[in-house]
Amino acid sequence: MDLLKAIKERKSIRAFRPDPVPKERIEEILKLSIHAPSAINLQPWEFIVVSGEEKERLSRRLLRAYKEKQIACGPGNVKPLPKTYGKRGAKTLELMKPFFEEMRVDINQYINEGSCNFYGAPVAILLCLDDSFPNARLVDIGIALGYLVLTAHEFGLATCPIGLIVAYEDEIKDLLNIPENKNVSIGVALGYPNSNIPINRFKSQRDDLEKFVRWID
Ligand SMILES: Cc1cc2nc3c(=O)[nH]c(=O)nc-3n(C[C@H](O)[C@H](O)[C@H](O)COP(=O)(O)O)c2cc1C
Repeated sequence: MDLLKAIKERKSIRAFRPDPVPKERIEEILKLSIHAPSAINLQPWEFIVVSGEEKERLSRRLLRAYKEKQIACGPGNVKPLPKTYGKRGAKTLELMKPFFEEMRVDINQYINEGSCNFYGAPVAILLCLDDSFPNARLVDIGIALGYLVLTAHEFGLATCPIGLIVAYEDEIKDLLNIPENKNVSIGVALGYPNSNIPINRFKSQRDDLEKFVRWID
């Protein structure tokens, strides 16, 4: 196992092969993901693993909801974002563009509809949080998500976190009988990457560390 290598290599994959992922492997990934630290070890995460025909039903429902409501991928911020962040998002989309051009698809349509379909992945994992927790516990969910994507990578599997679906939480809860008091915090597509699809060659960049850090001695 090489954690540093996995951190450097991992990336979001946006086209999957339909091949199923063995249940034992998913279980292994989740068992390792719950090693994540959490406040007072509350372990507030709950995972819903959707595959097979149920995953297809979920995708169809999300796609229908997206076509009706047209709530697209985006940061969903309450205030306009400071320029720095807007620029980063725009730059990422700009760098993705040639890959989508090669595929002859519309970038927005591919990302929005693809997200609803978990990019064709055979497994969709929903990370849920009881609504009695304050928003601060989303940090714990985020850490578990980080562990999950890295563990999956280590096992030769690919992932893409899918935040878009949270806009359609009511539909998801209705379809999967998720209790009212559980919030869907994030989804993740899990499966084997389809390496023939150009967008999977895309690797996002990061700004230099000095843009993010302030050292106080
Ligand atoms: C909270 C969260 C929500 C995300 N939602 C989506 C999504 O709905 N659709 C999508 O295609 N990618 C989504 N992503 C993937 C990001 O676009 C991706 O992580 C980012 O561009 C950096 O690229 P990388 O994961 O390849 O390093 C999401 C990532 C995170 C962490």
